[in-house]
Amino acid sequence: MTKSLTITTPDDFHVHLRDDVLMASVLPYTAKQFARALVMPNLKTPITTVEQAIQYESRIKKALKSDSHFQPLMTLYLTGKTSLEEIKKIPEYKQIAGIKYYPAGATTNSDSGVKNIDDRYDVFEIMEKLDLPLLLHGEVVDPAIDIFDREKAFIDQHLLKLHKTFPNLRIVLEHITTKDAADFILSSSKKVAATITPQHLLLNRNHMFIGGINPHHYCLPILKRETHRQALLNAVSSGNTKFFLGTDSAPHLKSTKENACGCAGIFSAASAIELYAAVFDELNALDKLEGFASFYGADFYGLQRNKSSINLVREDWVVPEKIIVGGEAIVPLYAGRKIAWRLIS
Ligand code: NCD
Ligand code: ZN
Repeated sequence: MTKSLTITTPDDFHVHLRDDVLMASVLPYTAKQFARALVMPNLKTPITTVEQAIQYESRIKKALKSDSHFQPLMTLYLTGKTSLEEIKKIPEYKQIAGIKYYPAGATTNSDSGVKNIDDRYDVFEIMEKLDLPLLLHGEVVDPAIDIFDREKAFIDQHLLKLHKTFPNLRIVLEHITTKDAADFILSSSKKVAATITPQHLLLNRNHMFIGGINPHHYCLPILKRETHRQALLNAVSSGNTKFFLGTDSAPHLKSTKENACGCAGIFSAASAIELYAAVFDELNALDKLEGFASFYGADFYGLQRNKSSINLVREDWVVPEKIIVGGEAIVPLYAGRKIAWRLIS
């Protein structure tokens, strides 16, 4: 039985760090285990310009410990109004790694997102020429489409056409949740990849309702049925380079989760790499963890693989019940539960 594991320091290719006090509280968890993280731009005032992204990057860097080597990778939030001039500036800024598409109204802080994806083919055309990755929140927002079908509907209605129209555009379908998405990734070209979160590997939709409604298991795209979870497990344990780590760690205060209208988002940064290790261990695929966590994302984004490494040991520990932020609590994924792998720095 493998007792310890040394892997190249992983990267998180999808994280929400927020801003101000909240950022200062959650950032250490990400910086402790990941060398780099792709920081989502859906702040209350979204990061829609290069200048805002650079300023946000410097706020993140200021919040890091002075001896930290953590590197944030920035993203721009695409809106209906994003100018082509703004897009053309991006290649000069190596720290900006991609552009994020949110369908307007699809998820937390997405009101400024794109209303009709077809209206932004002008942007995708430029991005394809500049070889800038497009990161998709791949769900439709049509209230007539069942919430569990919104990812598949996005693939059928928009993504197939998008990939066909711009075959050289690098696309990351973020936080995939369905067999349909995994199959789409497998059937598409090398230009298309996907991130997978710990919660979508660990939980199915029943977990939102076991013993009563559990708002801490609510995120978007929403958890799906077990057959879909199994497809994601197959995807990661196959070692296919098109699937890589993106936690979608998304902190919300306990009071806004345990609420009549609870927010979507799961904070996983307090135990992310350990949870992934536990998943790969259960699958008897610990040998595939490093590729998924540390290589394939960097390769897809055209970044150097990290040179440092982290150590994980097989040792039970309990995820804290909460972390405190400015007098309020955030409840992490697996709060109060045991994990069989522990990160030692
Ligand atoms: C994210 C958030 O809280 O910012 N929420 C979530 O449920 N995943 C936004 C997102 O990535 O959809
Ligand atoms: Zn997200």
